[in-house]
Amino acid sequence: VPDFANLTGQIYVLDLNLSIAQDRRPGYLRIAEGLRQAIQSGRLKPGERLPSCRRLAGALGVHRHTITAATGELVAEGWLEGGPRRAHRVSAVLPPDFFRSRARHAPPRPQKKLKWRLARGAGTPHVASGDSADPCRYSFSGGGPDLRLFPYEEFRACMGQALRQSPSRLGDYGDPAGHPEFIERMAVYLRRVRALTGRRILVTHGSQEGMFLVGQLLLRPGDRVAVDELGFQPAWDAFRAAGAELVPVRLDGQGMVPEALEEALQRHDVRLIYLTPHHQYPTTVTLPAARRVAIYELASRRGIPIMEDDYDHEFHFRSHPIAPLASADPSELVIYASTLSKVMFPSIRLGFLAVPQALHQPLADLRTVVTRQSNIFLQEAVARWMDNGGFERHLRRMRRVYQERRDALVAALAAGRASGLPLDWTVPDGGMALWLDCGGDSDLVAREARARRLRVLPESRYRFKASHPGTHLRLGYASRTLEEINGGMELLLKSIAATTSK
Ligand SMILES: Cc1ncc(COP(=O)(O)O)c(C=O)c1O
Repeated sequence: VPDFANLTGQIYVLDLNLSIAQDRRPGYLRIAEGLRQAIQSGRLKPGERLPSCRRLAGALGVHRHTITAATGELVAEGWLEGGPRRAHRVSAVLPPDFFRSRARHAPPRPQKKLKWRLARGAGTPHVASGDSADPCRYSFSGGGPDLRLFPYEEFRACMGQALRQSPSRLGDYGDPAGHPEFIERMAVYLRRVRALTGRRILVTHGSQEGMFLVGQLLLRPGDRVAVDELGFQPAWDAFRAAGAELVPVRLDGQGMVPEALEEALQRHDVRLIYLTPHHQYPTTVTLPAARRVAIYELASRRGIPIMEDDYDHEFHFRSHPIAPLASADPSELVIYASTLSKVMFPSIRLGFLAVPQALHQPLADLRTVVTRQSNIFLQEAVARWMDNGGFERHLRRMRRVYQERRDALVAALAAGRASGLPLDWTVPDGGMALWLDCGGDSDLVAREARARRLRVLPESRYRFKASHPGTHLRLGYASRTLEEINGGMELLLKSIAATTSK
């Protein structure tokens, strides 16, 4: 009987030529490997009976349990059949080739890699991925929330409570439209704060998924979507992903021009109108009531749905936020999209659509195929956070902070204008960014700023067609402290001065 501890190389066991590796893995795994190799090499044939555990154990000088564990492993992998009270036989049908460890002398596999055929493009990669890839001293790109000020500890408690819930309730598949508890709280909140009633809510992975779903459900290749001539490219890409073509509509200082939209609707068979009426992206202007009515009536007369993207509703400083288009929608044509990316943080990937009844089930069915549902524990945690008042407390706090930051930005710019720079802007009533006319080519200014390690995004980044250089920059101030705003604006004013003197 060989001494198992010293097993190495080839061992003849009961005329099975077993080769047992000598390494630090447990003995049963090494014996299983030896048996597997014997089967793979054909020394043990399908249907052939293995010596009994007792005999194998005796021959190998190991405990019977070691053999039982080894054969158990091979039964689980499909190499052996039988046990525990029946003899083990080599399986009649062996695991497919794919799972076999490669025989030592197998011919080399072909090296040619598959050339993928992509059925469609993945859109233009405009989505901001944070600034980590582009380190700079100050960044005013985007218009995100201040991630440093989110009450993570408070939310952690809600998350803990959600996780302590019975897993059988929250850990399983749920309603594809969203977690009822979250939907209920959100519906009450939307009714109270945004005057939205009579809508059905569908929870999505951020508003981006909502826009993608709407595109897939309503648009056929070649359909037209009317958009502001300056806008939010990820939404455009979601519509393009459905094969749609975009029709840019003229904007002025008050948002989309209804007459320009009417002209576009006369010329093109538009199937969807995409708007950010509360704070136009990227110019931040609030669409005045008269224009809202005019645009709604145009859409209603022609039976065209409107996708209303209300992404930072609460951050409005001047008066109460203006009620969304969806709050007065007798024709039931508005698809309302919103998100917790600004209220909480973007990586939470929680957004929702609030849609007319008729669209709810088709959307829920479609999202079942795409992402099935959103994370239920997360929705439960947010519902709890809403229940205990944390959600609105955070909103109130951030509204104050962002307003203070907006005012600091305006003061810094006013100082620049007083020093003779050709700056112009309208103080935004809300939102998280300011649209600055810097009086010259804003691509140039952004490049000049970049050289000073300041990141600002020029108008051309948001334009449908960047045919001529714009004069605007979008300054996302919400995520910057007062010191950062002052430091960043000092660099920006220098950059503008440098380009105007060129
Ligand atoms: C116009 C607009 N819509 C929607 C969003 C939010 O998208 P999501 O909810 O997918 O994070 C943003 C965020 O930057 C935005 O600017």
